Amino acid sequence: MRAAIILGTRPEIIKLAPAMRALKRKEYILVHTEQHYDYEMNRIFLEELGLPEPDYNLHVGSGTQAVQTGKAMMKIEEVLMTEKPDVTIVQGDTNTVLAGALASVKLHIPVAHVEAGLRSNDRMMPEEINRIVTDHVSDVLFPPTEKAKENLLREGIPEEWIHVVGNTVVDAVLQHSELAEKKSQILRNLGLKDREYAVVTAHRAENVDSRDNLKKIVEIIRSIPIPVVYPVHPRTEKRLKAFGLWEELEGAENIILTKPMGYFDFLKLMKHARLILTDSGGIQEEAITLHVPCITLRYTTERPETVEVGGNVLVGLEVENAKKIVERMLSDKEFEEKMRSAPNPFGDGRAGERIAEVLRNLEKEGKLKVHEKRMIE
Ligand code: UD1
Ligand code: UDP
Repeated sequence: MRAAIILGTRPEIIKLAPAMRALKRKEYILVHTEQHYDYEMNRIFLEELGLPEPDYNLHVGSGTQAVQTGKAMMKIEEVLMTEKPDVTIVQGDTNTVLAGALASVKLHIPVAHVEAGLRSNDRMMPEEINRIVTDHVSDVLFPPTEKAKENLLREGIPEEWIHVVGNTVVDAVLQHSELAEKKSQILRNLGLKDREYAVVTAHRAENVDSRDNLKKIVEIIRSIPIPVVYPVHPRTEKRLKAFGLWEELEGAENIILTKPMGYFDFLKLMKHARLILTDSGGIQEEAITLHVPCITLRYTTERPETVEVGGNVLVGLEVENAKKIVERMLSDKEFEEKMRSAPNPFGDGRAGERIAEVLRNLEKEGKLKVHEKRMIE
């Protein structure tokens, strides 16, 4: 079996690392669209995680939705026509994923979608469109949970195409936790003490591209009564500066603004945090894996399992509500412990191995191919 692993952003590198480890080097080529290109959004992860140099770097970079997706499709198509892999592997819901899946299936190369079946049911998010389209052109679907599988079944995707494997984020956390603990000096460098600070991240387009929404996030961050570490995504840094909000954070005594961090630093930072506030998908999952309470700055989540088991609370951008929850988290020991003891719904950390196994078996059985027909009942 020879797969083309296509990735382009920070979370895809982190979450595909376990699948790459489970595959032999000769079983895949690595195609990087470079949707993310800054050192601290890209190369640092390849280096820290010890991943191979990509076989193709496609310099797609930034752009509007259609420009970025279109450019990525054109460049991926060229690679796939040259390499003719048996299967394409994509992970998650970025424009790179959509481009990889569309380019692949139209060349009759089957698509394996890791983290299939997630739905926020909010079609204003670019990621929701990417998820839906990618799932519906994929031939092998790897939802992380039974709930995600149910979403796929409800949309008419045949059960035989679906393999629940867990989320590779758990593999990534377990595989790197110890190393992060040893290698990272982040707590010492930032003068932080175990469980005495909060971590914040925000980068969702719907949250940061509107001044009103971003202002609410700034207000929430400023109201947190313990030290806050906030590694700022480049999209958000640009918006904070353009909207004249950067100074409100920079000037606050309690807040430490940093560049985006490498995985070892960020993992250690999350692990020792009192709480995490985020609009990130991956960080909601990592928080529950590390048993750190998570407050999600969104009205919907495609990871409802985290809320159902009690480790994550959705507060949207309701400033007063967010303040109340943070205050409760910091003062009500029982509430905090309940959040910390929420069971991890994303599997046992062997998702990468299962993905490799399923693909190898399908190949052996001659079943790794585009399904020509799909009957809709
Ligand atoms: C993308 C994904 C999002 C994912 C996130 C992970 C889509 C539609 N969105 O969002 O689902 O959660 O990655 O972080 O695919 N920029 C830089 N340097 C970089 C990368 C981006 O400066 O290395 C800036 C550029 O101004 C760019 C903006 O960030 O226009 C947004 O980047 P883009 O890749 O379009 O989307 P993300 O917000 O990163
Ligand atoms: N991450 C990191 N450094 C940071 C912020 C995030 O290493 O400064 C990692 C985080 O641990 C997670 C992934 O990046 O594995 C999440 O990426 P992001 O929030 O950008 O995207 P999303 O998961 O929302 O698609």
